[in-house]
Amino acid sequence: MGIDLTTHYLGLTLKNPIVASASPLASTIAGIRQLAASGAGAIVLPSLFEEQIRQELAASEQLIGVGADSHFEAGSYFPPSVAASDVPRRYLDLVAEASKAVEVPVIASLNGTTVSGWVDYAAQIEAAGAAAIELNVYRIATSASATSALVESDCLGLVMAVRASVRIPIAVKLHPYYSAFGALARQLDAAGADGIVLFNRLYAQDIDLVRLGWVKDVALSHPSETRLGLLWLSHLFGRLSHASLAAGTGVETSDDVIKYLLAGADVVMTTSSLLRNGPGHISALLSGVENWIKLRDFKEVTEIRGLMRDRTPESDTERRERGGYIRSLTTYRGPYVTG
Ligand SMILES: Cc1cc2nc3c(=O)[nH]c(=O)nc-3n(C[C@H](O)[C@H](O)[C@H](O)COP(=O)(O)O)c2cc1C
Repeated sequence: MGIDLTTHYLGLTLKNPIVASASPLASTIAGIRQLAASGAGAIVLPSLFEEQIRQELAASEQLIGVGADSHFEAGSYFPPSVAASDVPRRYLDLVAEASKAVEVPVIASLNGTTVSGWVDYAAQIEAAGAAAIELNVYRIATSASATSALVESDCLGLVMAVRASVRIPIAVKLHPYYSAFGALARQLDAAGADGIVLFNRLYAQDIDLVRLGWVKDVALSHPSETRLGLLWLSHLFGRLSHASLAAGTGVETSDDVIKYLLAGADVVMTTSSLLRNGPGHISALLSGVENWIKLRDFKEVTEIRGLMRDRTPESDTERRERGGYIRSLTTYRGPYVTG
């Protein structure tokens, strides 16, 4: 008998826990069909950015003579194809067509940081047929006046505003660089987030020593980046009242998927592995997961979820992490270490 891979995420039923995360692979209907045909349990569309919505709003205000001075401050940072003011309308078309084109849930992605008029777009995305919205809060708080308390309360305010605009589920995708991620996750859970995606990657730039310029490329992820996600999933599993958990970074093989499930992920998302190996890689990931589950004599994927969760009483988890940290450093041995 086959393994039952049925999974629940954001209150949706998925046929398996592998989700194609937001990427250019899902920017066309042909690409979305390919991801579905390769076995994705759900597909996240690439993001519609706050700046793009504000650009459209500014353009329509100018057309009707309101806010003739309105200046779209971020427009100049975008390539022209992304800054075009019809991007939001085309995005709604993509949501509508994609939702009809494939059987699996299509999750739209809104990407922004501030609470303002653009948030109303969530309702249009819902009306276009998205099964859920993933809210990507990609904020690098470079201003030294932005305290962590302010950044977290902005994030919560944004989630509440989107929550108030739609009935479909909302997932929140965050980078790991918050000083107390556990507390933030719990507040997001209480604020009505149906899922948390751990983690967004930061696309920090490198320096080209020949040209003496910044390198603005995208470096795809590596499996060593799963460790932070494993840590937080293992601590959050079973400790939120409502929100489901998505693992977001570093998957290359089915081993990475299995580890994330064991740590407590409801679903495991991947982009880099699909950009490297093509959408067909999803079926390789799925058969690897199935084989592992079978070998261990389990029948359903739900049986392995959270098996490796942190079982320490919550009051003791910090001390346990300190213990693990000290043990790792003090037991290191290598060819140049004496004694
Ligand atoms: C080329 C490229 C485009 C991406 N576009 C988006 C996007 O539009 N919205 C978003 O939330 N994430 C986007 N991501 C991030 C991925 O969804 C994912 O979170 C990240 O790549 C980490 O997963 P991975 O380790 O499997 O690559 C993009 C990533 C890449 C490499």
